[in-house]
Amino acid sequence: MDPGTEATMRTAEATTIAAAPRHFRVEIGGGVATLLVDDPGERVNTIHPELMLEFVGLLDALEADAAVKGVVLASGKPDGFVAGAKIELMQDVGEAAEAEKLARDGQAVFDRLERFPKPVVAALHGAALGGGCEWALACRWRLASDDPRTRIGLPEVQLGLLPGGGGTQRLPRLVGVRAALDVILAGKSLKARKAARIGLVDEVVPAPILLEVARARALALAAGKLRREPRRARGAAERVTAAALDDNFLGRELVFRQARAMTLAKTKGHYPAPLKALDAVEYGMKHGIAKGLAREAKLFGELAVSPVARRLMELFFATTALKRDNGTGDPSVKPRPVERVGVLGGGLMGSGIAYVTVNAGLPVRVREKDDAAAAHALRSVRKVLDERVRRRALDRLERAERMRLLTATTDWSGFAEVDLLVEAVFEDLALKQEMVRAFEAVNERGIFASNTSSIPIARIAEASTRPEAVLGMHYFSPVHKMPLLEIIATKATSKEAIATAVAVGKRQGKTVIVVGDGPGFYTSRILGPYMNEAAQLLAEGAAVDAIDAALVAFGFPVGPITLLDEVGIDVGEKVGKILHGAFGPRMAPPAALHEVVAAGRLGRKNGKGFYTYGGKEKRVDATVYDLLPGGRSRRPFEASEIQERVVVSMVNEAVRCLGEGILRSPRDGDVGAVFGLGFPPFLGGPFRWADALGTRALLEKLEALRARLGERFEPAPLLVERGRAGTPFHAA
Ligand code: NAI
Repeated sequence: MDPGTEATMRTAEATTIAAAPRHFRVEIGGGVATLLVDDPGERVNTIHPELMLEFVGLLDALEADAAVKGVVLASGKPDGFVAGAKIELMQDVGEAAEAEKLARDGQAVFDRLERFPKPVVAALHGAALGGGCEWALACRWRLASDDPRTRIGLPEVQLGLLPGGGGTQRLPRLVGVRAALDVILAGKSLKARKAARIGLVDEVVPAPILLEVARARALALAAGKLRREPRRARGAAERVTAAALDDNFLGRELVFRQARAMTLAKTKGHYPAPLKALDAVEYGMKHGIAKGLAREAKLFGELAVSPVARRLMELFFATTALKRDNGTGDPSVKPRPVERVGVLGGGLMGSGIAYVTVNAGLPVRVREKDDAAAAHALRSVRKVLDERVRRRALDRLERAERMRLLTATTDWSGFAEVDLLVEAVFEDLALKQEMVRAFEAVNERGIFASNTSSIPIARIAEASTRPEAVLGMHYFSPVHKMPLLEIIATKATSKEAIATAVAVGKRQGKTVIVVGDGPGFYTSRILGPYMNEAAQLLAEGAAVDAIDAALVAFGFPVGPITLLDEVGIDVGEKVGKILHGAFGPRMAPPAALHEVVAAGRLGRKNGKGFYTYGGKEKRVDATVYDLLPGGRSRRPFEASEIQERVVVSMVNEAVRCLGEGILRSPRDGDVGAVFGLGFPPFLGGPFRWADALGTRALLEKLEALRARLGERFEPAPLLVERGRAGTPFHAA
């Protein structure tokens, strides 16, 4: 911006705006009013009625102001436009009609904006999501900064909602039905260039000149010198497809039919939002935008009060709260600065951990046992980076920068300087203790974190001269994909060490829960009874695929027997033994499993498990039944019976973990099960599920199962307490 413009601006600002708005900064100069959204006291802007009311007031004033030819809408926050509508508002809504009205009110503001006689240009930098995207959609022209943080899209369905501010109507009209459904039904957010490619934004410009260009565009539009070209399909083939499918009534019918079938296959009927969003788009394309908007608001209202949306929003709040949580329960605890990370063992887990760490911009030194293994570790990290470059999530320069952060060695050189060491060598207590001693011999203050999946951290810490700096960082495989990190604190672990590990986990992009030390910690422990009960059903004669199908129908991504094949049946058996040893008869794995392992069936890794591998179709390997009681003639079981027994086993164990202080809160228990084990998100996690059922009803269920099937169903003491009192686990 040249100094002249700046000077004009200051004067104009002083003269034009009488009552200072609270949520906007307004700059007027050179015929353009720039509205900078800046919700006071908030880190990010969200849309709420007060802010919208003020916006309408500003539009009224600017319409009347003859000096203003055009308007630029941008953010006053350094790194975000508008993240969406304020979700807290949805939580308080009791009736569908209330939510519908909220949507209608928002739509009315955006209608006013769309009809505003002077051109309004949206200048997007950072997140422009949900309501923020819809706000931009009602503008005349859209610019996006080329910053990697800029993301534009409609993620509402991920919260069980649909875009209720005109998104289901304006987006398909702007970018075509197919591209719009692609964004809306999956709840996608796009980078600036992708958004430009589909026509969601008109131009991408470097962030430093975003406002300058936006002002120029506003003036050009006002002067009639700038017009959007009709949506252009690239290439002849694309042109024909677009004409056939987007712009033609029958073609659209086909698109909707296919999208509906795909959505149903994906959501398996558990998530109503994408189907309703589809309905709103289709209805609007058939009956015009006014009716479409009414339909959109109505369906939005219905979704907002649905249990699925409630659960998904609660999970959203839980993960948001975890982002602000330092993991110690004491907000005054500060993490130590971490400048260097060490990783011991660069196998499957170690190389994954090294990858997420360099990805966070932290230098990593890996120690392996020989040169070949060290080279393999480097190659493994490189492979994940290559894949991201191939998918254009990363450019070559970024890949090179990340690889530069990574070094590997076979000795202890360079480990004196690491602030945090993550150990991922073989699952062997003596070896892990040896690692503790060796590390402490070269490093006087670093934190030692073990990625063990089953050894109590306190046992590993026995080898330490500073147990306050020993804890567990339990990652999930594959590390670069799985969102959860379970951090395990022993009684001796210092708050500073916990906060430091939590901070590193967050930098690695993980959702972090902190749990107490004990066999299986939290996630593996609750998986134990779940897997055991599935194996028990097998032993009673249920079919492999019947068990898996029942749990998939319940909402798990894969069934327990498939999971066992994937993890390794031998690994499952080993963990089962540890849990059995620690918790006694209620965790006793059925003998049947042992027979399967003894017969050399390890699962996918040796191509022999409960299913066949290698063929085109995944089929149950019937010969496995020869190793199980009942042989090849399996007994029919109701899916509901399977679901109840298996799920209740897991939930009861989760309640035990809460009662014993392994979990700090039901919130952490829900997040851990959903993000670590794939507990169905639409059910909110074990504690939300228990609350929805009612603790009393759950207690009765367990008592009935215990009477019928045995002591392993003994209700957790905390469940007895809550169930008798009829009080839920979550406060609200
Ligand atoms: P892995 O066998 O792929 O990797 C272990 C690596 O440690 C190997 O590359 C080995 O060469 C290296 N190693 C062994 N002794 C060493 C020493 N003295 N110094 C340096 N490096 C040494 O095993 P994976 O699966 O990566 O497991 C590692 C740890 O992570 C285990 O404690 C395991 O229980 C735990 N874990 C594994 C999960 C999984 O899904 N595989 C999930 C969560 C935890």
